[in-house]
Amino acid sequence: MSETTRIAVTPGDGIGPEVVAESIRCLEALRERHGLALEWTRFPWPSHAWHQQHGEVMPDDALQQLRAFDAILLGALGDPGPMDDPDRYLLSDSVSLAPLLQMRKGFDQWVCERPARLLPGARQFLADERAKDIDMLVIRENSEGEYVGQGGRLRQGTAEEVATQMEVFTRRATDRIIRYGFEQARKRAETRAAEGKQRSFSILGGKTCESQVCIVTKRNALRYWGDMYSEAFAEIAKEYPDVATHHELVDAACMKFVQCPWHFDVVVASNLQGDILTDLAAVLSGGMGVAPSCNLNPDNPDMPSMFEPTHGSAPDIAGQGLADPTAMLFTTARMLDWLGRSDDKLKTAGQVLFDAVAADLAENGSTRRDTRAIGDAIIARLK
Ligand code: NAI
Ligand code: MG
Repeated sequence: MSETTRIAVTPGDGIGPEVVAESIRCLEALRERHGLALEWTRFPWPSHAWHQQHGEVMPDDALQQLRAFDAILLGALGDPGPMDDPDRYLLSDSVSLAPLLQMRKGFDQWVCERPARLLPGARQFLADERAKDIDMLVIRENSEGEYVGQGGRLRQGTAEEVATQMEVFTRRATDRIIRYGFEQARKRAETRAAEGKQRSFSILGGKTCESQVCIVTKRNALRYWGDMYSEAFAEIAKEYPDVATHHELVDAACMKFVQCPWHFDVVVASNLQGDILTDLAAVLSGGMGVAPSCNLNPDNPDMPSMFEPTHGSAPDIAGQGLADPTAMLFTTARMLDWLGRSDDKLKTAGQVLFDAVAADLAENGSTRRDTRAIGDAIIARLK
């Protein structure tokens, strides 16, 4: 008998609790139908509400408490809304979002995976018909880079103020994220082959490969880490002759994400550049309401990985039951898939949930429905 898998549920702020509620309902239905050895515990932190009561967004020992779990399922952190209430309890974004960075760093969740696939039924923002073929995986370096949080403010509040924000790039973190990108490219090619699908990426000498990794930098202006990324990429690429390689400067990458996103397969980017590119990629896959995300620690099974949608707390619609739970549910499916690495039942449940959410999107994606109605329709498919 397999051991029970334990999930820490942290709904957070704004629409976080609204979309997480639908995830929990789906997990209940899946647990019942598939006999999953799965348990979850709900935490009222990190959140604005906790801060209002306790003067901090989460307790001092929060990471210690979370560490005991196999995964963290997080809604969203940020402005709780509603926007038309100027007196709402509001923290600065850097304070409310800090727990996310603490979890990513504390549990060394060094991979942030954000797939962008335009599934049937999802809103197609690009007019070009080839947009239907968008299928990329953006992998963001999640442990260092622009988000190390080192720096400070000197002579704060004066006309002579100086703000410094350090960027830190290590060869170790660079190598591991690039190698992870190549491994995912190979896996994606294998999955496509198993499904009888094929993609083709040109390399020199008139040859083609079935997968590709594009590395993104700003090496023309940020040369030190840009050159280190390029050198690491060239070296690691030698181990993967079956994978096509490609480099884009981040500004050109933004342009090409709009102009010809169907040309990308796996994209590897730094923490900040990946953060920005993935909001753009989310729109290519139908918008914030459908874009999943996860923060993974692939090499230490004692550290929980964290699963959250790409979107934030959406204060403009919070509290109205209007949030689309699709992103959260795709994220939950990915969590089950991840936990299913050592439990086939969980893996199957992840696929069943993904299929149900995708089928609902294909059938009803163009109809306006509230949060609960979308959850109801998906649960009906699960039962
Ligand atoms: P946002 O993602 O919260 O909202 C952007 C736009 O997308 C809004 O118009 C919102 O209504 C819409 N939207 C987002 N999720 C949706 C959903 N599930 N269904 C339907 N519409 C959806 O980003 P924004 O407005 O820049 O940030 C709001 C707050 O969230 C800020 O405090 C920010 O710091 C925080 N934030 C937190 C993140 C996290 O917890 N990982 C990520 C991004 C922002
Ligand atoms: Mg972001």
